[in-house]
Amino acid sequence: MKKISPALEQRLKKAARAAAKKSYSPYSTFPVGAAILAGSGRIHAGCNIENASYGLCNCAERTAIFTAAALGEREVRCVVVYTPTQTATPPCGACRQVINEFGPQARVISICDSDHCIDTTLDALLPHAFGPRNLA
Ligand code: THU
Repeated sequence: MKKISPALEQRLKKAARAAAKKSYSPYSTFPVGAAILAGSGRIHAGCNIENASYGLCNCAERTAIFTAAALGEREVRCVVVYTPTQTATPPCGACRQVINEFGPQARVISICDSDHCIDTTLDALLPHAFGPRNLA
């Protein structure tokens, strides 16, 4: 995993916080923002977007990754998740699987409104993941 500079880490955290402000979460009232560092070096952000048909809600992490992928990105180096809570929120299982597609080596950082932070890796969150290699 390539090291991320403290300045870049701060930019990612700022982008994740800003993205949460765009959250559309009238049903859960649980806003989430995510920012990813892509292989190009660019930061892509996203928020959770809910739907009256609850099962169609999309998490912030997947919004960010799908946005990046639609722009041609194929590598996720780091994911930052922000929630305006006192405890940091780790990515849900579905998002772990989606992160694995483009970022099996990704660093995953969850931040919130207190000092609580989860700084880990996708491999630790989703060990023995099923991924593209299993279809080869
Ligand atoms: N949510 C995320 O955006 N990311 C996660 O990793 C956990 C859950 C969203 C989905 C839903 O809009 C709300 O949080 C409550 O589950």
